[in-house]
Amino acid sequence: MYVYRLASILDDLERIKSIDGDGMRNHLGRLPEFCEDAIERADKLEIPSLVKVSEDLSIQYTRPKKIIVAGMGGSAIGGSILKDWLRETLPIPIEVPRSYTLPAYADRDTLVFAVSYSGNTEETLRCFLEALERRCMIIATTSGGMLQEYCHGIGIPMVRLPEGYPPRSALPYLLLPLATSLRKLGVTLSLDGELEEAIAVLREVVEEVKPDTPVSKNPAKEVALGLEGYIPLIIGSGFYESVALRMKTQFNESSKTPAKTEVFPELNHNMMVGWTERRDLTGKFSVILLRDQQEPDEIRERIEATRSLVLDEGAARVMEIWSRGRGKLARMLSTLYVGDYASFYLAILYGVNPTPIPVINEMKRRLEKAGNKRALRKKYKKLTTG
Ligand code: PA5
Repeated sequence: MYVYRLASILDDLERIKSIDGDGMRNHLGRLPEFCEDAIERADKLEIPSLVKVSEDLSIQYTRPKKIIVAGMGGSAIGGSILKDWLRETLPIPIEVPRSYTLPAYADRDTLVFAVSYSGNTEETLRCFLEALERRCMIIATTSGGMLQEYCHGIGIPMVRLPEGYPPRSALPYLLLPLATSLRKLGVTLSLDGELEEAIAVLREVVEEVKPDTPVSKNPAKEVALGLEGYIPLIIGSGFYESVALRMKTQFNESSKTPAKTEVFPELNHNMMVGWTERRDLTGKFSVILLRDQQEPDEIRERIEATRSLVLDEGAARVMEIWSRGRGKLARMLSTLYVGDYASFYLAILYGVNPTPIPVINEMKRRLEKAGNKRALRKKYKKLTTG
């Protein structure tokens, strides 16, 4: 009876609209379109061969030997997805430090992507300035803010994003321009029609997961129903690590719930032990396994053995999301898209507006009061005036 009542909430379009007061459902539905627009915007990017920052500081753009993606939260996840997507084909290392500082190896041969949807994230701005100091090549991706001012001020190449979206809804803009920029700098990426395929697959998925597809045929609504009242534990393997992380953050921000990730095969070396005795604690988790028809045999065996050894008994529920498509990007984004919608429906079940993130904004307000931005402006001025 209870489950039936919950299911009927997810098929009540008027109720969905009234809870989703800021229209997250509209942004979600536009993901395939955002992918196309992101590619178009990035195609227009012009990368100079030299940027003169001041009399004694200039940056030379050549083929990079290392890549760093500087960003936080919704603006960093594109970097993690890029890293997982390209890790078997990209001939150079890529790191996403999610930090105030760059790794020690950052130098003239390093490309630093400074990614901040708002353009005002202090960790990213600090990394930008550090990258300038170290003469790294910099490409920015932003919709405005201080990051845009910095770029315009000295001619750093920048992909301008449309304004007005929550960063997490703008994922294609924070991911795809990175791949385009790498190609423009001469890094060989064998993508082999992957972008086109991914967009086509996302168009199919959205038909299945959108609000007017009823619970009986909607895998994202089904997942949300299985999570209601429990802590989502998302388990990925291989290149699904970043997808699992994206899902966790979507449950955090849109559904306003704690959530956790684990990854195969690492979890077989620690997490499992914590799942053998304390059913009172593990029973608070509802598990989502990210699955792939092409997953290697050794991973499949681990997933099945882990299910029977600890998960089926220990968790409140174990669910699976299977990827779609042939190329890696399509498989990653199709899985992620079901998670995005599941986090939206879980918010609806909890009666919370998926869009606002007041506590993140409050945190940023408090830090701003501490005068950190003033210090950044000062440093920028010092660096650019020589
Ligand atoms: O989802 C969010 O709003 C956050 O995770 C932000 O992305 C994060 O705080 C960084 O801000 P920005 O994306 O504007 O750089």
